[in-house]
Amino acid sequence: MKAYLDGQFLPLSEARISPLDRGFLYADGVYEVIPVYSRFPFRIDEHLRRFQDSFDGIRLANPHTNDEWRAIILRLIAESGFDDQQVYIQVTRGADIKRDQCFPKSVPPTVFLFSAPLTGPSAVQREAGVAVITAPDMRWSRCDLKTVSLLPNILTRQLSADVGCTETIMLRDGLLTEGSATNIFMVKDGVIVTPPKDHRILPGITYDVVLELAARHKAPHEIRPVTEAELRSADELWMTSSTKEVLAIATLDGQPVGKGALAGKPGPVTRQLHAWFCTYKEEVMRHGDA
Ligand code: PDD
Repeated sequence: MKAYLDGQFLPLSEARISPLDRGFLYADGVYEVIPVYSRFPFRIDEHLRRFQDSFDGIRLANPHTNDEWRAIILRLIAESGFDDQQVYIQVTRGADIKRDQCFPKSVPPTVFLFSAPLTGPSAVQREAGVAVITAPDMRWSRCDLKTVSLLPNILTRQLSADVGCTETIMLRDGLLTEGSATNIFMVKDGVIVTPPKDHRILPGITYDVVLELAARHKAPHEIRPVTEAELRSADELWMTSSTKEVLAIATLDGQPVGKGALAGKPGPVTRQLHAWFCTYKEEVMRHGDA
């Protein structure tokens, strides 16, 4: 696989960083994941805007202009051997000569990118939906920043992996926040509901796409806090992310989502949204028009 490290393109297996890198010592850095369809990066400007917000949020100077980022990303995509990719970008506060929590002076940031194949959920997962569990949200108060300090997400995600589930949905103060690496949508009485983009969740690019599709097709939708009780009595649930796209949730903590004949199966709104997403992907994303 191909990588970029501090100005050089190289095979991923040859990339090396210092053990004093603050990403390694403190998880002091920010990242982005950009999906690529048929070699077109999806919504690169939106990803770079969110990246800038993450830089600002951790008081790290963005080392590149958007034009420079675009050139690096496009060359990495061109040099990678697959059409659908996920480009990972990470910038840390660099490697000092000592270990000190305060920001280092005159230390260049470490800039690292690599591209991997974009492999979405399996056909079975798409058709049947997936199982998820819930857990308390134990993250900090700036979940809107995409920082590499992912230990709370990792520990939370592992809870679901331990019981063979696909995602862990987090709850804070009695409210739904998001999945460990996904945003969450619910359907109640035909209305799509998702929590607002505030400091409690990552402002997902796929979240925006789903709300745009709902608006374009005049599907009723609301952006408002979702209580735990509402989550547990939802008619339908799905998760979104750059790598999962739109993925139906079949069971929550072992209970089927929804009622009646469709309980535990992807519901009509989820199927419709997924179909709109797929059409958009094939007709727009794959042509670089998004
Ligand atoms: N995760 N919430 C969290 C906590 C995330 O980590 C992600 C993305 C999302 C969805 O955002 P988007 O639609 O822009 O991918 C929501 C990426 C894919 C990751 O960490 O690998």
